[in-house]
Amino acid sequence: MSLLPDGTGLVLDHWGAPVIGGVEPWSEPERVLSFVTPADVAPLEYASAGHRHTAFSELLVDRGDSRTGARFTCADPEAAGAVSFVIDGEDSILIVRFVDESGELTLTTRTSTSVAHDVVRRSATIENRSASRTITLPRVFSGGWALPVGQRARIDYLAGSWANEFHREHVELHWGTFSIGSRQGVTSLAFSPVVTVSALDDDSHAIAELGAYGIALEWSGCWRLQAESVAVGERLRVSCGVDDDTTTVTLLPGESFSAPDTVGLWSPAGPGGVSVGWHKYQRDYLARDLGEHHRPVVYNSWYATEFDVNVEQQLELARYAAELGAEVFVVDDGWFVGRVSDKAGLGDWTPDPAKFPDGLAALAQSVLDLKMRFGIWVEPEGVSEDSDLYRRHPEWVYQAAGRPLVTVRNQLVLDLGRDDVVAWVEDLLRRLLNSTPISYLKWDMNRSVSDGGRAGDPHGREWSVQHTRGYYRVLEMLRREFPGVTVEACSSGGGRIDNAVLARSDVVWTSDETGPVDRLGIQHGFLSAYPAHVMSSWVSDERGHHDRRDVSFEFRFTVAMAGVLGIGSDVTAWTPDQCVRAGELIARYKQIREIVHRGDVTVHGRPELPLYALEYSQTNEHTQSVCVIVYDRDRDRRRDTEAPRIRLSSLVADARYRIEGSDAIVTGAQAAVLGVDVPFALAADTDILVFHRLG
Ligand code: GLA
Repeated sequence: MSLLPDGTGLVLDHWGAPVIGGVEPWSEPERVLSFVTPADVAPLEYASAGHRHTAFSELLVDRGDSRTGARFTCADPEAAGAVSFVIDGEDSILIVRFVDESGELTLTTRTSTSVAHDVVRRSATIENRSASRTITLPRVFSGGWALPVGQRARIDYLAGSWANEFHREHVELHWGTFSIGSRQGVTSLAFSPVVTVSALDDDSHAIAELGAYGIALEWSGCWRLQAESVAVGERLRVSCGVDDDTTTVTLLPGESFSAPDTVGLWSPAGPGGVSVGWHKYQRDYLARDLGEHHRPVVYNSWYATEFDVNVEQQLELARYAAELGAEVFVVDDGWFVGRVSDKAGLGDWTPDPAKFPDGLAALAQSVLDLKMRFGIWVEPEGVSEDSDLYRRHPEWVYQAAGRPLVTVRNQLVLDLGRDDVVAWVEDLLRRLLNSTPISYLKWDMNRSVSDGGRAGDPHGREWSVQHTRGYYRVLEMLRREFPGVTVEACSSGGGRIDNAVLARSDVVWTSDETGPVDRLGIQHGFLSAYPAHVMSSWVSDERGHHDRRDVSFEFRFTVAMAGVLGIGSDVTAWTPDQCVRAGELIARYKQIREIVHRGDVTVHGRPELPLYALEYSQTNEHTQSVCVIVYDRDRDRRRDTEAPRIRLSSLVADARYRIEGSDAIVTGAQAAVLGVDVPFALAADTDILVFHRLG
């Protein structure tokens, strides 16, 4: 990056393959400039309308008068506080402070890189320094990424809906704007705040030498991410931040606003390399640790009992779960007073004495006696109209402008932008965790916010920002005060999953779809942006909402073993043979768990094609272990007899590997070029192969 000679912005000189001999600072291309202003062409790191005129800007400023926008300058980079460059451990941080022409506003941009991972992190803060003027920001994005891919690019993104999240989709962008986002107060089931961008030639083929770029927004409220391609500048601009439809930021005199971080990475290895880069960052930087404690084998009773919970039946399930090898027993929805269906009870977080005559702590103790940890489901942001909490505090729910209340899943949402509501949520969780030996919390959020806002509050149009920060505050309190408690983040399945949630929770409930064939497709998309060590996945008896074909019992397990294995079936209804087999499979999972959670993953094929596989490779200082989970859902229905072989990519060519469970030894080159046999020893439609490097 360099500062423009007139100080009006930072520009991106180069981002991509290392250039021997160095890179010239960006300069204005003469030819183009005869018809466009310099600011509209410049690959600005952060653009403000008022400086830019026709191109997209990350910042819109409204001072309540006829002046549009703001023109920021870092006039004297040598002046105190204007530019600072700090090395903090593994991170290098560049902070540049700009002041607008009126002196009323400052813009501070922060860019950091790390030697520990390939991710560049950026943020922006705007401060209103005027003594008396209120300034509003109709758009205040986090930053723009002027990607040097030319005008034609492929954008890979994730899209879906309830029980159908994380499908890999792509567009080819040549002219115009592509935009995704959420206006729902949560990250959303529809889109994930992350894209992968690759350069295309005129025939729409990838220009492999240019690698690929991943851009993400670390935010769990309303958001928008857009890519814009125009003829000037030869750059594709990706901009993202808090959604500008639902949010207007108000800065009273003296106030400032910090936009959420946007992160990006470049990989020479194309989109697959971008996924590996994200996973490494999520493992080494975002996760508090990768140990088994916070990614245990869960038994969750939701599918077995739904709202019809009672202590005897939960204990019976717990006995089975312990026998199978589960490490935590989680009682899902339905344990608290009034919660006999999704129509009532949310907000009244007292164990139902009719269901637990001796209290919840008695069940928890019995679970501990079975050598498992105990966990519960909570939805602290939700409230039922039919609840004591709502009767006591109707003013705590969102009801913008006093319009009629709208319920979704029969519930309303508490306004976590209010300090008193956050304090109430914190107290409620402290009370639960201190009174009962709970060490696993599944935090759900089943209601998008359709009516956010707070009448009479100048900051009411920032409800989504405030709500999200309230949510983070509580998660951070849990980490600080209850470090042993594992948090599983959930929102009607995968409705609130992003890097910011990954930084504050341990695992995420990927989707309410547990039918194995559909689920495999969802996990395929999930793994392109998010890692296996957070991907909570249960074996259930469900068939799937879309693809209802039969697969083997083992296939159900290997789908869930691709991340953080859990069991959600009514295990008391399993046959004795199934129970024995499940116990064996859980034991097998515990053997490969470390490789799955810590390894780099390469995806082979697509779930709907024959021989889909996930190859996890974990390299320690002197050893390498590779685990390959193979799926072929129709194999036993096809007529082909040829022995299937799979070509692996993560083995070192001249190293030798022992294949677990056999005497066979292969070299990395053999495995890559000739492939290895898949014996389908585990079941007719799935297998697990493990390779250990020798010497
Ligand atoms: C949501 C979750 C499910 C389950 C139910 C309980 O749908 O995604 O896993 O917890 O709520 O009501």
